[in-house]
Amino acid sequence: MRDGSAIVVLNFQVNGRKRRLKTYVWRTLLEILREDLHLTGTKHGCETGECGACTVILNGKNVYSCLVLAPQLAGTKITTIEGMPAKHPLIEAFVGSAAIQCGYCTPGMIMAAKSYLDETDAGKQTKAREIKHALSGNLCRCASYSKIASAVQAACRRKQKNR
Ligand code: FES
Ligand code: FES
Repeated sequence: MRDGSAIVVLNFQVNGRKRRLKTYVWRTLLEILREDLHLTGTKHGCETGECGACTVILNGKNVYSCLVLAPQLAGTKITTIEGMPAKHPLIEAFVGSAAIQCGYCTPGMIMAAKSYLDETDAGKQTKAREIKHALSGNLCRCASYSKIASAVQAACRRKQKNR
């Protein structure tokens, strides 16, 4: 690291754990998660904000981690697929609905769906088109879209039931 101005020291949280990291300003959140923190559940896809494989939640909103640069991470709270409990309604619904084929898109889909689920009022009737819209930034090369949408719908129904 020759150019000190290209280095940033970051304090942020990932899955509830405080992290302190010294890195280059041009590194992406995707690289930091996978290469520095060894959280490889977040997948590496297009790196251009088109596939959604790298989706995580940053301060409550789903983002493409390949488009977030290191300096943007200061003081943030990030949730990745590793931070999702195994009994989370979305995880159970994806398994129950057989919404996983190769699984490459699954972490990103689940994080995008979590953002939608968290923002959706439990008393509100969810509509299929809203779910499709919420997941429209995530591609599934196995084309499991209808099963994925059914899984998210099932998780929404469970949320409504438990309110
Ligand atoms: S790898 Fe980030 S959107 Fe494709
Ligand atoms: S399950 Fe294979 S890419 Fe979606």
